[in-house]
Amino acid sequence: MPKLVSPDMTTPPDTVGPQDLIKAAQGVYDNAYVPYSHYRVAAAVLADDGTVYTGCNVENAVYPLTICAERTAIFKAVSDGSRKIVALAVVTANGGSPCGACRQVMREFGTDEMPIYVADITGAYHTHTLGELLPESFSSADLHTTEAE
Ligand code: THU
Repeated sequence: MPKLVSPDMTTPPDTVGPQDLIKAAQGVYDNAYVPYSHYRVAAAVLADDGTVYTGCNVENAVYPLTICAERTAIFKAVSDGSRKIVALAVVTANGGSPCGACRQVMREFGTDEMPIYVADITGAYHTHTLGELLPESFSSADLHTTEAE
């Protein structure tokens, strides 16, 4: 029985490449709700079970309540039961890079080795690892101390 998820595809994770993720993100680019910035962002995240979750930015008249595309996609994955993400693509008009808040949220569910494909709307992209984008990061490992309290 197919999984009840919103995403575009579920296949073994090693068969989903950069182009697949970028294409999935491009597919929701027009859904970005951006009446204030007019800057569309679309993302696609690959969960470790091979499921691809997409997301776009959703702005609000109370500006700080805006949610970025990357976090929309990651939170969709987590709320569907995923706890590990293995790759992420982000698409903007000009190839903009993920913000710091989104990098930290990626770190919660991904490793330093996780590839991030930063693409423009034509599909041209650069690959970075999360460790490159967020070096010396704070993570759950820092909270797992054996020190007596
Ligand atoms: N934005 C994202 O969706 N992801 C990022 O990583 C950077 C910024 C959105 C938030 C806002 O809707 C618009 O881009 C301008 O900041």
